[in-house]
Amino acid sequence: MITVKGLNHSFKIGKKGKEKHIPVLRDVNFDVNDGEIVSIVGKSGSGKSTLLHILAGFMTPESGEIKVNGIETSIFNEADNAEFRLNNYGFIFQNFQLMPGLNAFENVELPLKLKGIERAERKEKVKTLMKYVGLTEVQDHYPNELSGGQQQRVSIARALITDPPIILADEPTGSLDSETEQEILLLIQSLNKNRGITFVIITHDDEVAQTANRVYTMHDGELTEGVVQHAI
Ligand SMILES: Nc1ncnc2c1ncn2[C@@H]1O[C@H](COP(=O)(O)OP(=O)(O)O)[C@@H](O)[C@H]1O
Ligand SMILES: [Mg+2]
Repeated sequence: MITVKGLNHSFKIGKKGKEKHIPVLRDVNFDVNDGEIVSIVGKSGSGKSTLLHILAGFMTPESGEIKVNGIETSIFNEADNAEFRLNNYGFIFQNFQLMPGLNAFENVELPLKLKGIERAERKEKVKTLMKYVGLTEVQDHYPNELSGGQQQRVSIARALITDPPIILADEPTGSLDSETEQEILLLIQSLNKNRGITFVIITHDDEVAQTANRVYTMHDGELTEGVVQHAI
């Protein structure tokens, strides 16, 4: 489904003329099969989020190739990337990134508005999904009126509402207590099993990694398949 070959990236830091190139991804090879949960574990600063941002087309890699279902996304321009993201990817973040001025229902509805879906269809789809993820009772609540676990459910529903085949999650349980973490991991597993959604989950948490079918370890910008203990 996703194939990454020979990906390299570095960040420039420092003053103009005296910039230093800091390598962040070094010859990364990575693949994700349809219907898998794949996790990427590694210490903070090892390059995990950079890889996810490049996968999603938020950044262009210095070199390397990314193909999604045979389509080479690494050569896309910004407009192509935006359209591809809207149709193929859902996102979940550690800090939820909900719109504070919209209630739970409206947050989930937003991607459908961006896609130009008409009102009646939007309301029906959101209503059904809110029920599925167990949010009907709090759908009128604003983000600051929801618990961390409820906020993450809203953000998962928002990621799902456009029926993307792939969800990219960056530390999805990173700011939740362990009981709520379990709850969210169960939801992810059920979405994978029952709806066939493919997940790429970044984490520095062993327990989260264990819910995956396959694990990669990132260490100083190098990605290895399997769990490499010293790197976590
Ligand atoms: N926009 C940026 N400019 C310069 N350096 C960055 C930028 N984003 C990330 N980095 C650096 O790249 C490295 C990898 O960061 P990141 O991918 O966020 O790691 P992780 O998600 O594994 O914690 C870190 O050393 C970080 O400081
Ligand atoms: Mg990160």
